[in-house]
Amino acid sequence: MMGKATFRSQQAKIKLFGLILIACVVSFFLLGSGRHTSPGSMLGAVAIASFGCLAIFRARGDAVRNAIGDAHHPTVARGKPSARPIGRRPAGSARSELSAALASCRSAFLAVGLFSGMLNLLMLAGSLYMLEVYDRVLPSRSLPTLVGISILLIILYCGQGFLDFVRARVLVRIGGALDEALGHRVYTSTLRLPLKAGREGDSLQPMRDLDSVRGFLSGMGPTALFDLPWMPIYLIIILMFHWVLGVTALFGAIVLVLLTLLAERLTRKPVSSATLSGNRRSGLITAGSRNAEVVAAMGMAGGLAARWEDANLEYIADQRKVSDVAGSFGAVSKVLRMLLQSSMLGVGAWLVIEEQATAGVIIAASIISGRALAPVDLAIANWKGFVGARQGWHRLSRVLAAMPAEAEAMLLPAPNANVMMHGAAIVAPGTQRLLVQDASFAMEAGHGLGIIGPSGSGKSTLVRALVGAWQPVSGRVKLDGADLDQWSSQERGRHIGYLPQDVELFAGTVAENIARFEPDADADAIIAAAKAAGAHELIVGFRQGYETEIGEHGEALSAGQRQRIALARALYRDPFLVVLDEPNSNLDMDGEQALIRAMLGVRERGGVVVIVAHRPNVLTAVDFVLAMNQGRIHDFGPKDEVFAKMFPTLRPVPAAGPTLRVAAESGAPAVANGTEGGN
Ligand SMILES: Nc1ncnc2c1ncn2[C@@H]1O[C@H](COP(=O)(O)OP(=O)(O)OP(=O)(O)O)[C@@H](O)[C@H]1O
Ligand SMILES: [Mg+2]
Repeated sequence: MMGKATFRSQQAKIKLFGLILIACVVSFFLLGSGRHTSPGSMLGAVAIASFGCLAIFRARGDAVRNAIGDAHHPTVARGKPSARPIGRRPAGSARSELSAALASCRSAFLAVGLFSGMLNLLMLAGSLYMLEVYDRVLPSRSLPTLVGISILLIILYCGQGFLDFVRARVLVRIGGALDEALGHRVYTSTLRLPLKAGREGDSLQPMRDLDSVRGFLSGMGPTALFDLPWMPIYLIIILMFHWVLGVTALFGAIVLVLLTLLAERLTRKPVSSATLSGNRRSGLITAGSRNAEVVAAMGMAGGLAARWEDANLEYIADQRKVSDVAGSFGAVSKVLRMLLQSSMLGVGAWLVIEEQATAGVIIAASIISGRALAPVDLAIANWKGFVGARQGWHRLSRVLAAMPAEAEAMLLPAPNANVMMHGAAIVAPGTQRLLVQDASFAMEAGHGLGIIGPSGSGKSTLVRALVGAWQPVSGRVKLDGADLDQWSSQERGRHIGYLPQDVELFAGTVAENIARFEPDADADAIIAAAKAAGAHELIVGFRQGYETEIGEHGEALSAGQRQRIALARALYRDPFLVVLDEPNSNLDMDGEQALIRAMLGVRERGGVVVIVAHRPNVLTAVDFVLAMNQGRIHDFGPKDEVFAKMFPTLRPVPAAGPTLRVAAESGAPAVANGTEGGN
């Protein structure tokens, strides 16, 4: 491996080499300033200077170094500009924001700008060669001159080709570097997007936007933008040949630039509407495939296909509009450019007849004018991508601004005393309607809370806020007196176990799911969690045990199996607060018993367990009850007190019904004063 010092000294040498090349060129111009310098030698000097700059940039910029260096190391070329692992970036680092990410490529952009400048100068070589051939070689019939300038031309073309090659590679790597810098941040934002914007917002959009920005940066579009500023210089050169030629070219340039601006105006709207209709269309596809069973069983394919067709037609129409505009402008600009080139020849011929210019001048001017307007052509051809990338950029900026990277939170001690909700008002993300209002309760360590209430009364909403998945619009949720947002979400997650009502497992093995996809998961902790959930026997019963692949959404498991594995995931690494939203809806008797044991286990080790339950059996494991009704806490207190208030007439009759049996089972006096530490 190359030592750091050796690397530094190599960099210094390369830099020095570059500087010497540039110094040579500068001194060449200074020394030659008194004498006549031919355009050919000037271009040669430019070529040498460009290699000097290339050397300096190679020593400086990462992306540039990669682009040039990769030519010899194709394995590195496959989009890995640095070996830094993306997932390990510290949360909240300021450099992860969009503009900062682009700013970090500043030196690479500078290099692209400089290369573009040199390329544009070198591109004059062809026309100057023609000028020399017509005006010098042919009249003098000098073969040595022809050979000399031809060799020079070949060298210049090679230099031009190399610069072009490096410029394209640098741009691809800028796109890659941007993606690398932002990919992790954008992905974590998409994970939080549904919690901010609701399900309405397409959570795939930020990734698509990043893709379109990277795609644009890596394509031909930016080269057109970098070449555009050179247009005036070409025009000035033509003006130097003859003012009439200059004015003709200027007129053509103005028309083409106006055309570009018009293309911009006309494509903006269809591009954004194509994005919307595209999202609607892909939303229908994912929804359809997610619910394939329902669709097949009830023959809904026809209806869904009709809906999709509508969306698809709209999308295709939007796309067609964009392509039509881009295509027609492309055709017009091409014709105009050819027309301009020919008019340059015509005007030039007229000037020759009037003896105001030489034949070489008209051909050179015609070629230069074509060259001057080529970037406009390219820009118009790439305008669709540019508008798409720009809109994506703005959308992405808005998403990242709305979801700032988490600040590095102070490491708090693990909670072990209590959990509290105070005056919480909760709305669903992206909506305004209050689903739960004025919710207050507190639970001490070692206790269990059962949340009951009719469907739609806000039980799941309440526990979503309790685990920090949804943020209450007012009021607070605290663990050991500290607001939930004082923890980083990762740190908080260690102290919370949550089993949602709709169990969602991820594609991966059973062990990975239980370990919450922790990179350094501990096998003992996984098995302990499975045992605590009473799922160990179930899991080892699978053919591949803990290594069983459970497929997308855990589809390889039955609903009850999923619930038990999700329970193990909630219990992984003994979190302080365990919240279970109807964990028994698919459980058999065994499963329910295991669940009750798991809940008692949590209480015994000094945790707090909260369970939302319709079926009352599991309430034997709790000592407090919270009854929800129409989004409000109707009652909260020790279990038997609440039940006594709710069912006063039934109370004296033991074990008469499920609800009553719970009340009877829980009737230990210790529960009432809240001192029971487990059963
Ligand atoms: N994502 C959401 N967006 C908008 N409204 C929602 C959302 N989730 C729930 N609601 C509304 O909030 C209310 C309470 O829903 P919640 O899921 O909390 O009820 P629940 O008590 O858990 O019912 P169940 O016993 O059926 O699970 C319902 O009226 C529901 O329509
Ligand atoms: Mg619910």
